[in-house]
Amino acid sequence: MNTDKRAAIGVFDSGIGGLTVARAVRTLLPDEHIVYFGDLLHLPYGSKSEPAVVQFSLAACRFLRSQNIKLLVIACNTAASLAMDQIVREVDVPVIGVIGPGAETACAATRNNRVGVIGTSRTIESGSYRSAIAAINPLIEVFEKPTPLLVPMIEEGWIGHPVLRLVLKEYLGGFITSDIDTIVLGCTHYPLIRHEVEEVLDGTKTIQVVDSADSTALRTKKLLEENDMYRPAIGEETLKVWLTDSTSSFREVAGRIMGRESIDVSLVDSGYCSEGLCYSACDCSHRQD
Ligand code: DGL
Repeated sequence: MNTDKRAAIGVFDSGIGGLTVARAVRTLLPDEHIVYFGDLLHLPYGSKSEPAVVQFSLAACRFLRSQNIKLLVIACNTAASLAMDQIVREVDVPVIGVIGPGAETACAATRNNRVGVIGTSRTIESGSYRSAIAAINPLIEVFEKPTPLLVPMIEEGWIGHPVLRLVLKEYLGGFITSDIDTIVLGCTHYPLIRHEVEEVLDGTKTIQVVDSADSTALRTKKLLEENDMYRPAIGEETLKVWLTDSTSSFREVAGRIMGRESIDVSLVDSGYCSEGLCYSACDCSHRQD
């Protein structure tokens, strides 16, 4: 536990998508300092093996813990699906994932108890949404579809691109016949193409599109409130971004998501220690570069 109220909220994703969650946290909690970690070097997580995702996620979370955080948000469905238990064991601050809040939103939204879920291959294979939804309402029928091409296209900045629309048509076609009334964007990158998803699903009937950003931010607020951990207002909005690699489109897309021109971005170097992968500012004492 970190009782320093001025400490940051750590937010972790494999890439840029977790900024959709950071933005929701920022909106609800404007006085909080956010430290964001984007593991661009290992992106996409969604097509990697489970041991690899666990290893990358643990290294990222150890790094964020070294940055004086009081709470950690796993803003990556793939990491939350495959590595949540290990992360909770690894860090000594409260951890919030995106699966539970996303499942809750979907369960509250559906009227006909038929919910679709799209996500990375690993998220869908893990059955994390299916189990989380069943735990809330076992009567809900879940229809899942892995959509692995979406993350690379979003990271590339191909939002609104005609090729994206074609890919979405191919991926979402099956949902139209399965009579779902709600679809979960089970990847934190997907809110960035929400408009395109809505457009492709439109024309048959109204399917509600839900994501976990707002509900995850609400859970974050509740946790800080319950533990009396709000950061005192100091009048400055702060966001620090750490990346394991850089891409030409990151700053531009990140600026658009967060609604600001410049973002404070730094790179971390990776190395190995006896625990496996670790990063330059990691405070482990056994690093072997
Ligand atoms: N944004 C991530 C998620 O929510 C994963 C993208 C990826 O690395 O494949 O699953």
